[in-house]
Amino acid sequence: MKLLQHTLFVSLIAFSLTPAYHGLEIIGGRDVKPHSKPYMASIQVFNNATKSYQHICGGALIRPNWVLTAAHCEFDLNVKPVHVVLGIDSLKKKSNKALNVKQKIPHICFDEDSKDNDIMLLQLDSEAKLDKFVNVLPLPKNTKDMKTGTVCTVAGWGKTKVKSNELSDNLKEVNVTIIDRKKCNSRKYYNNKPVITNNMLCAGDRKGGKDSCKGDSGGPLICNNVLSGIVSHGTLCGLAKKPGIYTRLTEKYVQWIQKITTSTFQQNV
Ligand SMILES: *[C@@H]1O[C@H](CO)[C@@H](O)[C@H](O)[C@H]1NC(C)=O
Repeated sequence: MKLLQHTLFVSLIAFSLTPAYHGLEIIGGRDVKPHSKPYMASIQVFNNATKSYQHICGGALIRPNWVLTAAHCEFDLNVKPVHVVLGIDSLKKKSNKALNVKQKIPHICFDEDSKDNDIMLLQLDSEAKLDKFVNVLPLPKNTKDMKTGTVCTVAGWGKTKVKSNELSDNLKEVNVTIIDRKKCNSRKYYNNKPVITNNMLCAGDRKGGKDSCKGDSGGPLICNNVLSGIVSHGTLCGLAKKPGIYTRLTEKYVQWIQKITTSTFQQNV
């Protein structure tokens, strides 16, 4: 028990210090069917010490040269190169489908404390070649709020063991259920700390044990085959009363995405 408490304590510290603080792992998930999610993107930052790229967040290819992710997936393009790897299930497998990130466009109203507007676009320096392994995920046509009880799927390369810092090598997925927003903000759940706004979705499992976690941030939440959310934040992972909190793909956000990704003035956004 001591050890567990210690682990939880260390985790809490780690969570408050790292930008991708929710995010431990896909909890209670399973390996995806090979190449069943051709839109999944691994966002990787160059590490000078190891001379290799390291996965920091997930994302979804929404146009051949644009990836949708979370604004809290922080990196500085002026300091380290960042690329996006497409068409892979396994992070270890070398892929030649890595495209450099040309610019990042976090939502201008992203709030680091409340995590409101946790949405970001990455423009790639060239268009991905679409094939059997790489494809775009369409934007939702219907942005109605998800009904409580809707079963959604979230995927990512986040950690699979709380005690280990290692990421999952293989892409994993798990089914999570939409939880009523009011309930999610209630005393037994988040108690409005943080507040789950109308721009967010709560999703988890009644008994806990199914969740996204660190390293899964930025990845898509798919409900009824429609892109409905982005892995954003939460407290620890897999706890029944602390479900995952997702950025909801609202009409406003879809318009924002469309405006930016079809603008002829992309450089000046
Ligand atoms: C996840 O949900 C989908 C859609 O409801 C369902 O078809 C699938 O069997 C579920 N997978 C698991 C592992 O429960």
